[in-house]
Amino acid sequence: MEIKGTTQVYGLIGSPVAHSISPLIHNMLAEKMGLDMTYACFPVAGEDVRAAVSGALALGIRGLNVTVPHKQSVRSLLGSVDPLADAVGAVNTLVRTGDGFTGYNTDVEGFAREAAACGIRLRDASVIVIGGGGAARGVCFSLAREGSGRIVVANRTQEKARRIAEAVNAWKGKELVIPAGIDILSDRKKRQNLAGSGYLAVQATSVGLYPDTEVSPVDDPDFFAQASAGIDIIYNPEETRFMKYLSQAGRPAHNGLLMLLYQGIASFELWTGREVSGATAAQVYAAMQQEMAGRRK
Ligand code: ATR
Repeated sequence: MEIKGTTQVYGLIGSPVAHSISPLIHNMLAEKMGLDMTYACFPVAGEDVRAAVSGALALGIRGLNVTVPHKQSVRSLLGSVDPLADAVGAVNTLVRTGDGFTGYNTDVEGFAREAAACGIRLRDASVIVIGGGGAARGVCFSLAREGSGRIVVANRTQEKARRIAEAVNAWKGKELVIPAGIDILSDRKKRQNLAGSGYLAVQATSVGLYPDTEVSPVDDPDFFAQASAGIDIIYNPEETRFMKYLSQAGRPAHNGLLMLLYQGIASFELWTGREVSGATAAQVYAAMQQEMAGRRK
């Protein structure tokens, strides 16, 4: 695409950002949809986030994605924060509104759209989420927003699962999320008491992430046999150990690449006011898969 005097600039701030796949997503969406915009990565260290946000405003930047380590700290620098992003406590998208930025969280939307694209119904579903970090928190808010019936969040450090449950339940106004230790995953009785069977299993820890790909937070075959389907939010490797266990149990298994695509699409739609078609999304997804395959070589 041609960069002209009129080209609107968007980008990503964080550290590190050099290997981000977001430029591929947004520049391809812009090209396919014929929009005069470009998207670049800006490495911004922790202490520089304030200067980066005011610099972006001064430069007329229309929108930014925000990643580690700024997803929490950026909140105090914004004109306003969307209520959902505020409840999640993490902002990954800034949209220029007047003389400031409004903060959103499109990771929540990304997870819901991935599930929909995979034919997984979240409404009334029983779900076990493994993890207690920012990723697990986003998934739990997404599930609560989509009307899941029962959510068990199991984490090695149970205190962090408890904090997620507290935040989601306060937002939802009911005791929807039940915190648990990671031991419930391989204890059939405890697990069934909390989640029943036929649950959706969501892997939201960093366990199994490249290069340490041969590990899973749970190895018990019964955990996978009792699940109806699973999503691992990791997308490198393409098939994690957790996903292999699901497949061995005959259950559908999905990685997190669609979530990454859809959080990007949700940001893009907030910025441009344009809706991305299914056909365009599929083209971008194919390019992302190709890019990831190239990186694995
Ligand atoms: P993110 O923001 O991506 O969620 P994070 O906040 O660093 O990242 O969270 C990493 C998650 O992986 C946590 O749930 C962590 O468990 P603890 O909260 O107990 O630390 C989980 N995790 C990392 N290594 C693990 C391991 N070996 N076994 C079980 N869980 C692990």
